[in-house]
Formats: sequence, C-alpha cells, structure tokens
Amino acid sequence: MKRLLQCRTRADMRQLVKVCMALLFLFIIFNIYKRWSKSHDGRHIVLWYNPPFYVTSRTDAFVRNFDECPQANCRLTFDQSEAESSKAIIFDGRQMTKDCKSFSRPQDQMWVFWGNEPPTKYNEAGDEWMDFAKEFNLTMTYHRESDVYMPYGEIVPTMPIPQKDFLSIAQKKNHSVVWIASSCHTSSWREMYVKELRKYVDVDIFGRCSDAMTPWNCGNRWKHDDCFSVLNDYKFYLAFENSLCEDYITEKFFENYNYDIIIVTRGGTKSNFKDILPDGVYIDAMDFQNPKELGGHLKQFLNDDKKYANLLERKSAYTSLPYHIVYQKSLCNLCDRIMYPEVYNVARYDNLRDTLHEINFCKHPSDLERKHQR
Ligand SMILES: *[C@@H]1O[C@H](CO)[C@@H](O)[C@H](O)[C@H]1NC(C)=O
Ligand SMILES: *[C@@H]1O[C@H](CO)[C@@H](O)[C@H](O)[C@H]1NC(C)=O
Repeated sequence: MKRLLQCRTRADMRQLVKVCMALLFLFIIFNIYKRWSKSHDGRHIVLWYNPPFYVTSRTDAFVRNFDECPQANCRLTFDQSEAESSKAIIFDGRQMTKDCKSFSRPQDQMWVFWGNEPPTKYNEAGDEWMDFAKEFNLTMTYHRESDVYMPYGEIVPTMPIPQKDFLSIAQKKNHSVVWIASSCHTSSWREMYVKELRKYVDVDIFGRCSDAMTPWNCGNRWKHDDCFSVLNDYKFYLAFENSLCEDYITEKFFENYNYDIIIVTRGGTKSNFKDILPDGVYIDAMDFQNPKELGGHLKQFLNDDKKYANLLERKSAYTSLPYHIVYQKSLCNLCDRIMYPEVYNVARYDNLRDTLHEINFCKHPSDLERKHQR
C-alpha cells in the first residue's frame, strides 16, 4: 500500500513538472510577444531614462503619456530595458552618470537634454554629465530658447472673467506678506533680501527658513493643495527664486497664482519676466533698487484695501493653467520633432554648455549692499 502510494506520488510529480514546464514555456513566449508587440505598434518609443522626482511625483501630468496630442505617434515609457528600441531618450541631463551608456545606441536615436534646474546647479551633483555633452540632439528646459520649451507653468487670459467682490476679499485679509521656503542659502541671496525686507513690512515665514526652522509639512511640494489656502489670508506672496537666471520662473509662481493673493517675484535677469508674464498682474522685486524700496511700494497696498482690490481685479483677468496642460504641450512638441527631424533640423549639439546658457544667463544680485554679500 505504502509502495503504491509512493509510485502514485512519483507519477503525479512527473505530471506536475510537465505541466509547470509547459506553463513556464507559455509564459516566456507570452512575454517575448508582449515586448515585441509593444515595440512594434508603429509608434515611436520615447524613453524617459532617469525621470526626476519632480516629474514622477506629478502623476496628474505623468499618466497622460502623449494621449492629448492631436497627431502624436509616440509612446512614453520609463522602462530602461526599452532603451535600444527607443526612437528618443530623455535624460535628466545633469544627473547623468556612466551607467547611462549601458546599452548600445542606435544611429538614428535622438537624445534629449531635459533640465528644470538653472545653470547655477548643473554641477551640483558632479560634472560626469559633461562626458555626454556631444551626444545630444535636442534640449527641453524652462528656457525659451530650448528646442522644446517646457516651462513650469503658463499664464493665460481667464475666460470668462469672474465677477468677485475684490474689495471684501481685500478687507478680510488679516496678514501682510508670506514667504515659504526650505532652501535658505541661495545664490540669489533671497534669504538676506527677506531679512532686509522685514525691516519695512511684516513678513511671516514658513518652512525651514523660518525663525523656528520648522519644515513646511503641509501639502505637496509641487502640487499645492488645500493647505496652501492659508495664502488667502495674506496680501502678498514672495515667490523668490533661488537663482537669478534668465527665464527661470518656477512653480512658486505658477502654483500659487490662482489664490486670492498678489505674487511678488524676484528672479530672472532684469525685467526678463516681463517677456513671459502679463503686465500688471504681479509685482517684480527686480524693478526696485533694494528691499527698502520694494517695502515702501508694498506698504501702499497694505494700507489701502481699495488699491489692493484693484490689483486683485486686474490679476483675475489671467489664470495659471493646470500643470498637466503645460506639460502636455511640451510633450506634443517633442513628439513632433521626433516624427519630423528633417523639418525641425534636428542635429547634434556640439557645444551644449553654451546652448544651455550656462555662464551668461545667471546674474549676481545687485539689489543688496555689499555688506550682505558672502
Ligand atoms: C486671520 O488669521 C488667522 C490665522 O492667523 C485665521 O485663523 C483667520 O481665519 C484669519 N481670518 C480672519 C478673518 O480672522
Ligand atoms: C543625434 O546625435 C547623434 C550623436 O551625436 C548623431 O550621431 C546623430 O546623427 C544625431 N541625430 C540627428 C537626427 O541629427
């Protein structure tokens, strides 16, 4: 009996092994097919090789692939194993390391230098990326001269213009100026600028640059949610950039624009933001000699609700587009260039460093006295 049972088990085992082998075989075939069909659906594969947190955390934009582009024959992937079958690869340029060349690049593959940081930060993580400087065909950054312009946001006319009681909004506000920041040693010296400004107007500071140095744990760094509604209690928000670089205007402006608040920018090179943003809907610290002058200007509005309400009303004629729309536009533009490289004269960059305006387009602050300079 016992022996019989043993025999049975052995026979069953053999049967089982056969079934398993068959299943494994089918599984392998299925996966090969899946990979094959993925790369043979006729669309150009665009691989984002090392997407930064800034991109992956913004699922609102991310999940959309190229779906909203009218004629885009492209498919976005983040799967590095598709590198050799990709028509184009997007790299977070300054984060590139030797590992980025672990596959063999087809001759007609286009490399895209993506970057959302200003040139002042390109070498922060080392200069290994420079080894690839002659490998790129396209640039995709916030700078308007990039092949593919990918700004942090966009301000467009509001349709229709909302009818709001701006005077009562102004009257309800019980705070003056707010600054939220976590990076407190910057090449724009914004931390020193704010310190000076506080001599002339009340500035509440949240985040690690506050007096208590408590991190701002409310909401998401990129996508501002309900907890930023504290902004509605304030009259002005300081959207001060960490570097004064041409066209470098970030989510600090675009994500906060739609609150009932007036944004004060400090960034770009002198009057540079006037080329990007509509006139009269924000205040530009770069228009003032120093923090004292800006403080004086803000005071006029802090002491006059009617005057401040006018500013809000003027601002309401414009809206900040949701990020996913801005992102989509850039992706569609990219796909166009990948589909028709001849039309767009896609070539190879010989001197990427100059193209990225690494040296020329950032300025030292000139609105602080020498004694503040480190
Ligand atoms: C004034 O500020 C406090 C927070 O400091 C807030 O709770 C309150 O709702 C604000 N608004 C009014 C009208 O008091
Ligand atoms: C892109 O750059 C590579 C590497 O420099 C080059 O070999 C290739 O011809 C370029 N592609 C186009 C379309 O110009």
